[in-house]
Amino acid sequence: MRVILIGPPGVGKGTQAALIGSRKGVQTLSSGEIFRREIEAQTDLGRLAQRYISHGELVPNGVTIEMMAKRLRESEVRKHGFILDGFPRTVKQADALNEILFDMEMPLQKVFWLQAPDELIVSRLSGRLGCTKCGAIYHSVNKPPTREGFCDVCNSPIVVRSDDQPETIRERLRVFRESTAPVIEYYKDLGLLVAVDATRDAEEVYKEIIRETD
Ligand code: AP5
Ligand code: MG
Repeated sequence: MRVILIGPPGVGKGTQAALIGSRKGVQTLSSGEIFRREIEAQTDLGRLAQRYISHGELVPNGVTIEMMAKRLRESEVRKHGFILDGFPRTVKQADALNEILFDMEMPLQKVFWLQAPDELIVSRLSGRLGCTKCGAIYHSVNKPPTREGFCDVCNSPIVVRSDDQPETIRERLRVFRESTAPVIEYYKDLGLLVAVDATRDAEEVYKEIIRETD
């Protein structure tokens, strides 16, 4: 499988990437999650990324492309393919990805555009909880953990993401419309885009994506 999940913040990209990755044995590459790990480990890249992420802005293209190129060239990706979650997010990143995949002789199969109205997105993000260690995603109402405050997968504490504050969510939605909407047009023009109604239950959304890729 060689697919991209694209869509506004909170639409369910990470949730679908985790479902597909675990059930189909495909490598999930989530740029946001990789940045969060770097922040947690207090690396130079993490410190740089944090300055942008905390305001809902995009991390500069140069470092983002370099980081994702390195991950894409890992052997697991060459063997089993990839699910890209949150990358590319600008036309410049999409151009860079084309070059990387051309070199690797791994052409994209499909780009799934997950769609949901802003009100639903805000309600999903305002209840979201994430594991500090493995990145598993929960929701206080839709998907609560079995033991309150702790991850079902690795038992680590689960917390509200620091960029899930109302003001930052609004800014992320604005940045999505400004910088990422043109990427959707880009893949539409290449004939790779598949629109998915992401307002439905996560299992329904998953089934549709799998139907389109099998
Ligand atoms: P990133 O981590 O990618 O954040 P995002 O795009 O804002 O998207 P989210 O992770 O918030 O939402 P999601 O679509 O994954 O939804 P989720 O599955 O969690 O990026 C964070 C930041 O990093 C960016 O702002 C930027 O600064 C930087 N960055 C990342 N990539 C970059 C790039 N390429 N270039 C530059 N900068 C970059 O679901 C949300 C909630 O809804 C959860 O609680 C979940 O349980 C629930 N839910 C999901 N699906 C359903 C469903 N079907 N029904 C009911 N509830 C659901
Ligand atoms: Mg995510």
